[in-house]
Amino acid sequence: MNFDIAVLPGDGVGPDVTNEARRVLDDVGNRFGHRFTYKQGYIGGISIDKFGSALPQATINICRRCDAVLLGAVGGPKWDNPEAITRPEDGLLAIRKELGLFANLRPVKMFKVLQDSTSLKPEVVARVDLMVVRELTGGLYFGRPKRRWSTSRGRRAVDSMVYTEKEIERILRVGFELALSRRRKLTSVDKANVLESSRLWRQIAGEMAAEYPKVTVDNMLVDACAMRLIRDPAYFDVIVTENMFGDILTDEASMLAGSMGMLPSASLAEIPGGKSSSAFGLYEPIHGSAPDIAGRNLANPIAAILSAAMMLHYSLGLGKEAATVEQAVLKVLDEGYRTKDIMTAGMKQTGTQEMGKTIAYKIKQGI
Ligand code: IPM
Ligand code: MG
Repeated sequence: MNFDIAVLPGDGVGPDVTNEARRVLDDVGNRFGHRFTYKQGYIGGISIDKFGSALPQATINICRRCDAVLLGAVGGPKWDNPEAITRPEDGLLAIRKELGLFANLRPVKMFKVLQDSTSLKPEVVARVDLMVVRELTGGLYFGRPKRRWSTSRGRRAVDSMVYTEKEIERILRVGFELALSRRRKLTSVDKANVLESSRLWRQIAGEMAAEYPKVTVDNMLVDACAMRLIRDPAYFDVIVTENMFGDILTDEASMLAGSMGMLPSASLAEIPGGKSSSAFGLYEPIHGSAPDIAGRNLANPIAAILSAAMMLHYSLGLGKEAATVEQAVLKVLDEGYRTKDIMTAGMKQTGTQEMGKTIAYKIKQGI
């Protein structure tokens, strides 16, 4: 099969890691008889420098014509001026909204080989295998009114947490469907003891639970969830939550896996169904642009490579190919290859490109 993939490398290490994801995809194509054609687009700081906008219309058009989007990272100190009218991160928020990417999937799985790199006790994180489903195009990030102004009694600002029934229903459905394909446990996270939007959220979760008798649902307050993620993370299977809550909880949850350099994400415009699906989506590593190591062959490309695996699974309907990429990554880690960020004594330190090549080679060899 032929697939068109929009590639938006962005800033910092974005180009370094997306190059390795492409390398791996090419070998997936060779081995399984697919062809991936890449269409490059601009986003983030590099795009501000070139076009004055963090997300030019041309980039949106490229994405719309492709089967899926692979993104590197955006941002850097060069564009950090708080007075700036536009920032690289605006590009990220805009592309989510423009492409209707309402469901952000952030899996967190403990890599056994990295057990010693986490700041928590190995026995606490040993069995961590959870998926956070974060609502991505509504809630506190996008709700109106949203503004800052001056009054005779000083400056004021407002942000609003707004949700419609439809928005809540579709994101909860993503949570329920994913739970069905995993360990059938869904934790819906809200702040229903304080927020009206959370009370609506909890009510709808209760109504939908009747449609999914095989899924065990519990409602948890976001502060209690933050605590439980540290105390007993193996408790969780699928977590589904509001945009801002999800932003905070996923940074916290990422630390359970030992390194942020390893974690992929998917942002989907449709509810994924079954084992593998063809929901349109954007795929990116969780980590940022790490400008200090950009272009130096030091970044860990594994998060980008695993993001490409998620793309194979969720957007291209290639479940077997996705599993092969994941196995190749585990194998290479097992054999002791490490980029600098996850290097420990006795292991083999490799650069970004060598890590990508080693993983691609495993795929070529049938692992
Ligand atoms: C994330 C990031 C973004 C967010 C920023 C860069 C706008 O923190 O993807 O989690 O807050 O959503
Ligand atoms: Mg975040």
